[in-house]
Parts: sequence; C-alpha cells; structure tokens
Amino acid sequence: MISVSNVSMRYGAKILFEDVTTAFLPERRYGLTGPNGAGKSTFMKLLSGELEPQKGTVVRPKKLGILRQDQFAFDKFRVVDTVIMGNLPLWKALAEREELYAKAELTDEDGMRLGELEGVVSEEDGYTAESDAAVLLDGLDIEEPFHNRLMGEMQGGQKVRVLLAQALFGNPAALLLDEPTNYLDLESIHWLQNFLTHYSGTLITISHDRHFLNSVTTHTADIDYQTIITYTGGYDDMVLQKTQVRSRIESENAQREKKIAQLNEFIARFSAGTRASQVTSRKKEVERLETKELARSNIARPFIRFDQKRPSGRNAFEFKDVTKGYPGLPVIKNFSASVQRGEKIALMGRNGAGKTTLLKALLANAPGVDSKDVGIDSGLVTWGHEVQVGYFAQDHREEIPGGTTISDWLHNFDPQAAREEIRGLLGQMLFTGEEGMKKTEALSGGEAARMMFCKIMLQKPNILVFDEPTNHLDLEAINALNIALQKFEGTVLLVTHDEDLVDEVANRVWYFDHGKVQDFAGTYEEFTSTVAK
Ligand SMILES: Nc1ncnc2c1ncn2[C@@H]1O[C@H](COP(=O)(O)OP(=O)(O)OP(=O)(O)O)[C@@H](O)[C@H]1O
Ligand SMILES: [Mg+2]
Repeated sequence: MISVSNVSMRYGAKILFEDVTTAFLPERRYGLTGPNGAGKSTFMKLLSGELEPQKGTVVRPKKLGILRQDQFAFDKFRVVDTVIMGNLPLWKALAEREELYAKAELTDEDGMRLGELEGVVSEEDGYTAESDAAVLLDGLDIEEPFHNRLMGEMQGGQKVRVLLAQALFGNPAALLLDEPTNYLDLESIHWLQNFLTHYSGTLITISHDRHFLNSVTTHTADIDYQTIITYTGGYDDMVLQKTQVRSRIESENAQREKKIAQLNEFIARFSAGTRASQVTSRKKEVERLETKELARSNIARPFIRFDQKRPSGRNAFEFKDVTKGYPGLPVIKNFSASVQRGEKIALMGRNGAGKTTLLKALLANAPGVDSKDVGIDSGLVTWGHEVQVGYFAQDHREEIPGGTTISDWLHNFDPQAAREEIRGLLGQMLFTGEEGMKKTEALSGGEAARMMFCKIMLQKPNILVFDEPTNHLDLEAINALNIALQKFEGTVLLVTHDEDLVDEVANRVWYFDHGKVQDFAGTYEEFTSTVAK
C-alpha cells in the first residue's frame, strides 16, 4: 500500500494540488488522469520518493517499480544493465566495485570499501543480478541476442519491454508507470494490457489513452480542481461520475450566486441608511458564501492552426529508389514516390517497420530542417519549389535546450515577431501569463509537445512532417491537432497510432512492412478494407 497524507504541491503561482490525502491499495489498478500539466508526473515522483512534497507525507513500500515518462533516458546503456538499474543501490554498488577492481593497486581504504560493497551486493542478490535480469527479459519477449545491445538501438516497443523489466526487477510491491503506451503500436499495447491485468501488486499508471485505461484499471485517481479524487472504475466511469458530481456542484453554485446577488443588492440599497446591523450581518453572509467558491477545472483546449508563409510548388517532393538501413539490417529498399501539394499521407506499420528511420533520413537535407541524421544510403530525393518543412520529431524533447524559457526559445524562430505576438501565440496554446517565462527543463511531456507546435506555427512551413505528435498529448490537445491538420492547406506526412487522427486527416497511405512500402491512394479505412478482402 502507498499512503499519502495532506500532501501539497505548487510551482510559483500554479497550485497543482493541495492537502491531498489518499491511499493506493494492493490488487487494485489505478489510472492517474488529468490534462497536460495537471501534475501527474509530479505526483508520481512524490509517490516514488524522487521528489519531496512541499507539505505532507508519503508512506511507501521498500521496493517500487518505476517506468518514467522519458523513454530515451537509458539510450547509452546496455539492455541488461538497464534492467539491473531497477535496483539503484545495487547498480551503484556493482559499478563502484568494478571501478575498484580495475585499479592497478588497492589501498587499505579501497579494501575496506570493497568489503562494504560486497555486503550490499550480496544483500541485494547481486550475484544473480545478470541472470535474474535475463529471465525477466526473456519473459517479456526480449531474446538473448538483444541483451547486450544498447538501449538506443532498440525500437519503441522493445524499449518499453526493457523498461518494464527494469521496473519489475527485484519484485516490487507496487508498479508505477508514466505513459507506458507512448511509442507502442497497437499489438504491443494489447500485449501490455494483458500483462498488466495479471499483475497482482498495486499498479498506478498514467495515460492519456482512454481505451488502455478502460481495459486495465479498476480505479481512477483524477487530478483536477487542485486536488486528487479517486473514483471506482476505469476512465469512462470516472468521466461519468465526475460530470454528475460537477453538475450538482454547479447548480449549487448557481443558487449560491443568486443568493449573493440578492444580499449584495440589499447591502447596496441600505448601507447608507439606518439598517446598519442588518447590513453587517448580510455582509458576513456574503463572505461566508464566497469562501465556498470552487476551484476551476484545469481542463482546457489549445487552439492550433498551421498557416503557410507561402505555398510550395505543385510537386511537393519526389523520391527515387530510396534505400536506407543500419549495418546488417536493411530497413527500406528501393522506395519511389511522388507527392503533390496538399496530399496528406499516413505512414503506417508496426513498431520498428522503419517509419521514423525513413523520415529522419529523408529530412536530413530538407529545407527548414537541421537534422543530425546522415541521410539515405542511396537513391534520390528532390524537394519542390519553395518547400519549407516543419518537423515534429518523435524524440523532439532532445531538440529543446535547457536553461532558457519557452518565450525566449520561441523567439529564435521568428526574430521579427513582437513580444506581444509571441505572448498571444503562447496564450492560445495555454501558456498564459507567467507560464511563458517557464524554464524549458520544467515542461511536462504535453507542454513540451505544445511548445513544438508553437515553434512550427511560427515557422509557417508548407510541408508538415509529424512523427507521433499525439504521444504525451491530452484528449483536448489531440482534438485541436486533428482539426488543425485537417484544415492545413499544405502537404502532410504523419506517423501516428491514433486511428481517429489517421482516418480523419490522411488521404493517402504508405504501409511499411518488411522493407517494402505499399502506396495506397485513399484513407486508412479504405486501405484496411481493401487489404482485408
Ligand atoms: N521544477 C519545476 N519548476 C517549475 N514548474 C514545474 C517544475 N516541474 C514541473 N513543473 C510544472 O508543473 C506542472 C505539472 O507538471 P507534470 O510534469 O507533473 O505534468 P503532467 O500532468 O505529468 O503533464 P503531461 O500530461 O503533459 O505529462 C507543469 O505545468 C510543469 O511545467
Ligand atoms: Mg507527465
């Protein structure tokens, strides 16, 4: 069990939640919900102990399994080491021990330290760490040959499995997952759902994926109104109960406001007259009523619109015999296509089929993109007249430098823009008031994505290349993005696992399968029904 007592958290003027008391029980599976920036990741860090609450206490079991929102954090480590890092004290002891043994000569002090480290290693089952990790990985379908690879070489679905093995390492009593379905294709999501419904400890998972939450969770802890309320049932059950409670409170509020208005009228009319005591008592009554004022819901919808500085030529771009792969691993072979201005193409296919690889390679020398990729292996890419590309990379977070503010960073992309203009843009993207001065490293996952959209809205390109733009976004933002992409008059290349988005935006499909790309003129729905026949 994890129990939370009187916990409060705020950043500057923004109150995330105040005086929260709640508990998370074994054999229950909780969804932790709330819009982008509500404080879900922050709350999870309080639960795990990574962050101390500004007020209140958290009591937790000794071993917790954690899967963080940043799934690129371990890219430089071997897969099996990443798993062992699930037990940080053990990992640190192993690393320090190795360092000491590597020394040519050991001092007495080193010898003492080695003794201590051996103690930690044996207490934490360190002698079987590698084999324990291997067993977990096998169980999650990551086969032996992958165990010594670097995390950076693994594709999305595999990465999440490794990180899950990390979380499960050492049999934790509770499992905390921050947006585990990001970067997963549908098949992997179904696998994860099945896996989690069989987990018997306490599960707490953050997600913006309604289907996922409904199928996995038994309870929902929702962050809103500056507090956390736990409902029984999955996401849809929560929304239903929440709206019922909300409409009751709203009607109570309406009545209260009516009453306040009447009292105020009385006060205004008689305050100068002889009924001083009655006026005073009514003033008190107004004060009492007003303190009951409810915190506003933090659910809000951004307004996204992509304009073009100028349209591209009629032929947006053309590829001929494009081939791309990694050493020993061909990904795309001899792909040719020609794309007209205004076409909206969905790149579909399983995790690891090569969508991101192809996009990165194609965009290496595209106008408007400064990418570190080396480009395609062979073939020809021709960009059309006046083309400008706006790229939303799958790992866009790496592009955002630390040590600056949202507003300053954005200013780079349109130095001519007046501060007012940037402020207007930020406001429509829900960074109101002092939020624009927020440090870039403090941004939540959804806020970082919203900021990337701001950048592209300033650049005003005529080709949008979006790789998994809905990961991290809440429902309101996904909806706003959907509308913006439908209305955009330029050309779109879109990778997403969000079927609604694909169906409503794309009018052409590139389906990636084993190095081949099927080019289909029509919607994804039409594509699947044609292929199924
Ligand atoms: N160190 C910090 N300093 C200032 N503000 C912070 C800091 N850390 C987080 N915040 C702010 O607190 C709010 C909550 O962030 P958090 O990452 O918990 O949101 P979230 O609910 O997980 O959102 P998302 O769905 O986008 O992942 C955000 O507005 C974020 O910018
Ligand atoms: Mg988060």
